[in-house]
Amino acid sequence: MTDIQEAEAPHNNFDTILVLDFGSQTSHLILRRLRSLKVYAEMLPCNTNIAELPFKPKGIVFSGGPSSVYDKDAPHVDPAVFDLGVPILGICYGCQELAWRTDASNVAGGTIREYGHADVNIHNSGNAHTDKLFAGLGDSMHAYMSHFDKLVKLPSGFVVVASTANSEFAGIAHESKPIYGVQFHPELEHTPRGTEILRNFAIDICGAQDSWVMKDFIQKEIVRIRHLVGETAQVIGAVSGGVDSTVAAKLMKEAIGDRFHAILVDNGVMRLNECEQVKETLEEHLGINLTVVDGAELFLSRLKGVNEPEKKRKIIGGTFIDLFQQEAIRIEKEAENTPNAGPVTWFLQGTLYPDVIESVSYKGPSATIKTHHNVGGLPETLKLKLIEPLREMFKDEVRKFGQEMGIHRDLVMRHPFPGPGIAIRILGEVTPERVRIARAADHIFISEIRAAGVYDEMSQAYVAISNDRAVGVQGDARVYGYIAILRAVKTLDFMSAEPYDFDFALLKRISTRIVNEVDGIARVTYDITSKPPGTIEME
Ligand code: XMP
Repeated sequence: MTDIQEAEAPHNNFDTILVLDFGSQTSHLILRRLRSLKVYAEMLPCNTNIAELPFKPKGIVFSGGPSSVYDKDAPHVDPAVFDLGVPILGICYGCQELAWRTDASNVAGGTIREYGHADVNIHNSGNAHTDKLFAGLGDSMHAYMSHFDKLVKLPSGFVVVASTANSEFAGIAHESKPIYGVQFHPELEHTPRGTEILRNFAIDICGAQDSWVMKDFIQKEIVRIRHLVGETAQVIGAVSGGVDSTVAAKLMKEAIGDRFHAILVDNGVMRLNECEQVKETLEEHLGINLTVVDGAELFLSRLKGVNEPEKKRKIIGGTFIDLFQQEAIRIEKEAENTPNAGPVTWFLQGTLYPDVIESVSYKGPSATIKTHHNVGGLPETLKLKLIEPLREMFKDEVRKFGQEMGIHRDLVMRHPFPGPGIAIRILGEVTPERVRIARAADHIFISEIRAAGVYDEMSQAYVAISNDRAVGVQGDARVYGYIAILRAVKTLDFMSAEPYDFDFALLKRISTRIVNEVDGIARVTYDITSKPPGTIEME
């Protein structure tokens, strides 16, 4: 991070709670809950060197994690964290870490597993300090437990503030220091009043201001971008019509006007009329300086004869970079000949916080299941610096952010669409004919979902087409066509997903329309695979 970035980073503008991540699947939910309380929070790996912390937090949360404190390579915090003098809350593994740090025999390894709902008895002792974490919650609450090890002894200096039938020490508090621990997960929706515990910790115990307001954040971000880019430098960025790149582009336009150049590459595998619609929205409605590069023929010619999913993804990613690079060089040349236009030095990317989290987890980025193509990895020859204004945000925050910036709700609430487009929804070879079929079927599916008013109930929906064909009978004639596979899922974080519970009459209507209206489709099926074991996209 440059000095300017550092000086203007959100954690220097807002009181910040630091979450030290021990690798739980739900660590990021702690951030979301805190931010929903308007308390800004950031996450760093649990083994962060405390002397090198980039900011002074108001308080620290130790997250849960899948390890046992007794594992040979169990993750542990830098002990210097206890000398910072700021309040600490340990959650699940984080609570065991607190106890283990005091005395390794405080935690029992693998003796009593507890998964699921538990009734928590709150022990109000009348001591204002130790009662603070559960203040206002009465005598009992429901909580979600998911642990393998548990505390078997009270760490010295601590008192019990909550218990369950299985966990005598479900909540602990230090007698005099602002250090607390809970065995359950307050960040989960299954702990209905968990947010109140996080609120008690962040606001009452840490004294953090609840001042993280989106409007302020937008203004501060605009100032930060102006500062960073300076008076003359220019910025380029790829846009796709998706919410992330559109919000990032709009922010850039607000910050530096026409010195931001958006590039839309038509890769020939976008949805029906999508390119025209994106162009209209960005240019006419948002006033963004846009160049459309027509790469359809080039992409399709490079995809000819290619069946293998990863190969398709790599060809699309590589071709994108080739065209983007050509365009960047053209803009750079034009800038040289335009008075008052500085060099193109920045590249805008709509990276979101979950991507950042993946790279800051102490476990490192998770194993690659698919090569995601997000315009990452620009060629070094471009010599551009990255600017990522959304890197502190979650998807739902970006949506809110977009709406506050005046972007139309329909665009902000659009389902995500992958960089490789419908090429990864056409199983096997991508040919112009198969693109036509997939586009037409998808258009009917999405139009019907919208007409039925259920678009916002699902997180993502599309039609894929099979590689093999099936026989059907249409108007007394035999047809031999592809199978349209409808996919619609519900998910919060896209890491796991459930099939959408369709109204059967609606499904049948969609099926009838697709078979009747799309030449080349013989059958329609609905994919009911969850993720895992499936993935959201087909390839
Ligand atoms: P999967 O198929 O991995 O998809 O379950 C999870 C989410 O990621 C999107 N996705 C992509 N997005 N470039 C993108 O920009 C990609 O290469 C890519 N592959 C999958 C997918 O649409 C879903 O929202």
